[in-house]
Amino acid sequence: VSVHWERSADLVVVGGGVAGLSAARAASRAGSTVLTVAKTGPSDTSTQYAQGGIAVPAEFASADAIGSHVYDTCEAGGGLCDPVAVRSIVAAGPDAVATLESFGAKFDRGADGGLARTREGGHRVRRIIHAGGDATGAEVQRALDITSGMAHSGEVLFGTTAVRVLTTDRGVVGLLVHSGSGYGVIHCPAVLLATGGLGQLYSCSTNPPGATADGISLALDAGADVADLEFVQFHPTVLYEAGSTGRRPLVSEAVRGEGAHLVDLDGQRFMEGVHPLADLAPRDVVSRAIAERLRITGTDHVLLDARSIDDFHTRFPTVAASALAAGIDPLVDLVPVAPAAHYSCGGIVTDVWGRTGVDGLYAAGEVARTGMHGANRLASNSLLEGLVLGRRAGAAAAERRGLPTPDVAVYLPSMRRLRRPDLQQLMTEHVGVVRDADGLAFAASALSALAETSADDADGIATSALDPTVTAFEDSALTLTASALVTAAAERKESRGCHTRRDHPTSSEDLRHSIRIRLG
Ligand code: SIN
Repeated sequence: VSVHWERSADLVVVGGGVAGLSAARAASRAGSTVLTVAKTGPSDTSTQYAQGGIAVPAEFASADAIGSHVYDTCEAGGGLCDPVAVRSIVAAGPDAVATLESFGAKFDRGADGGLARTREGGHRVRRIIHAGGDATGAEVQRALDITSGMAHSGEVLFGTTAVRVLTTDRGVVGLLVHSGSGYGVIHCPAVLLATGGLGQLYSCSTNPPGATADGISLALDAGADVADLEFVQFHPTVLYEAGSTGRRPLVSEAVRGEGAHLVDLDGQRFMEGVHPLADLAPRDVVSRAIAERLRITGTDHVLLDARSIDDFHTRFPTVAASALAAGIDPLVDLVPVAPAAHYSCGGIVTDVWGRTGVDGLYAAGEVARTGMHGANRLASNSLLEGLVLGRRAGAAAAERRGLPTPDVAVYLPSMRRLRRPDLQQLMTEHVGVVRDADGLAFAASALSALAETSADDADGIATSALDPTVTAFEDSALTLTASALVTAAAERKESRGCHTRRDHPTSSEDLRHSIRIRLG
């Protein structure tokens, strides 16, 4: 490939959400020169859209509070969480939140002046702190954005797409990127992937358009392991509008945490008796119950009754605005909702310092699989993990500063891809909330039949706001990730966490382990 520009840094961070910005700041503080690359502009991240909040132990860090948070996390995780990783991340939460407050983040407070705390699915106590009612992610992003920049976190290259991690047998030596100025190479001994999720694999998702699994694909190409990819979490309640696809507005689980409940189109409550926590069961349970209700009643949405929440418009201004825009007033009307793809519980295998198996390659945030989420992430544990792992991975990556970065030959990665709408249809129909062997086999054969394409072979489909070359890389990342996900889902002949098999409805002790995938 012809390279048009070159730069150097001690660390390149890919992605500008909570994990990436936290990492860039930590590495800068440790003395590294940091370049952050982001595909689009500032704040076009999943972090920006997070509503419910940040789960942090109540009574800040008492042993009981940490223990109960670890318990709820592992309970939701369906037997696949790594309890040591969970405890390590949960225990670091209070300090990470205090640091965020020192950057200017303002969390909602109760009448006594203490942090207001709510509940969401799977939480047995009120431990979730929030900001602006239901705009927690936007506040986290704002606090990190205003403190990022040259003085604290190095330079950010917007409009820049990571294409390939460059390695030798001694680990990372650079990153090939694509921007408006063509291909560029950034020489660096460390790359930290904080690229977020893979929601664009599905027709409806809560994720922004940039959630195209780039980090998973970059890591697989570089020889790292991924695991738990089959555990795609579907949020039970996104605002339903007939025929709408793409990013759908979330109706936070905190709405149920404050007393709302689900009914079917006949007005029947259906969560009681399904789980002891009823409407506040972990979200895999709620999504499955809704999917089952839709199948039984032959409908495509259920309803959320939030009319008991008198202060709905001030407590949930983001949800209220989306609902009102769709002509629904939650104080008066039942809110139509349905499940949509929300979060990748699996990802690139790392330790609790964000280290992958490839020297110099780090990952943090949604793209990483630390063992925190197991088979199903507990609500509001994601901002927590992004904050904690971002800081730690940035500090760990800083240890490689100054290592030599010899030149290597630069090639584009091999690319196979389905066009985005076809891929989304395939995944939504066959690899959604409920799966079976026939559907997974159909998806696997569609994905394995693909021929190699080149980055210049743009198909002109307007699936990305970015240029056609970027669309080609995104589609290729999605397709590679879909293949790995379908392989794991087919191998997991059981139901566990957010992976539900119609043909294997119970969990199997033989499969009480993660499925790891590595290329070649
Ligand atoms: C929500 O507010 O329901 C989403 C929170 C999360 O995904 O953790």
